[in-house]
Amino acid sequence: MIAPSLLAADFTRLGDDIQMINRSEADWIHCDIMDGHFVPNISFGLPVVEQIKKKAEKPLDVHLMISDPDRYLERFKDAGADILTVHYETCPHLHRTIGAIRELGMKAGVAINPHTPVQMLIDIMHDLDMILLMTVNPGFGGQKFIPGSYKRLVTLRQMVNTLNHNALIEVDGGVNLETGRQLFMAGADILVAGNFVFNSEDPTATIKALKNC
Ligand code: DX5
Ligand code: ZN
Repeated sequence: MIAPSLLAADFTRLGDDIQMINRSEADWIHCDIMDGHFVPNISFGLPVVEQIKKKAEKPLDVHLMISDPDRYLERFKDAGADILTVHYETCPHLHRTIGAIRELGMKAGVAINPHTPVQMLIDIMHDLDMILLMTVNPGFGGQKFIPGSYKRLVTLRQMVNTLNHNALIEVDGGVNLETGRQLFMAGADILVAGNFVFNSEDPTATIKALKNC
């Protein structure tokens, strides 16, 4: 599956870019929420997600890169999130957070930074709908893919196959046709792509190419 990230969209014509995604072969719409605290950048927040939801015809895959996400779970549900992902590094009571996301009726994901061992998820794996493997340091689009991520993905794939084969693996950061192909081969279920889609000549065709890579 493919989830284009709106972080790389043209915010002055966001509606057009959402329409493009609606008509494309993309599966989800990825929304990157940054707070300038957990990550060194600020993106957009709840009112924008609400507006995106009004135009989106595909599930909203909301990636929270914010400290203390528990404070905002319900508000992101109300804003229209279908899949809500929190960072492992921001949740001291991750099991409780995951439970709260699911009780609100959303799918629950956990993202891990490039330095966090994938093995840290072993005891929570049963409760997850998705694991988001960061393949760049979160905070910015357009960064270079970290090559050591392939090995991490292979390990994570084995863990998922053994512990919870229903959980999806999403990969985020530096995805293009070359990395995308290898990521699918290494066991990714969903690829997030920002700059590669929106800075291409024909974003719809790029989504199609990624989907078939
Ligand atoms: C990075 C974000 C990504 C970002 C990916 O912190 O989580 O979703 O938009 O951008 P590209 O595809 O440009 O690396
Ligand atoms: Zn993201």
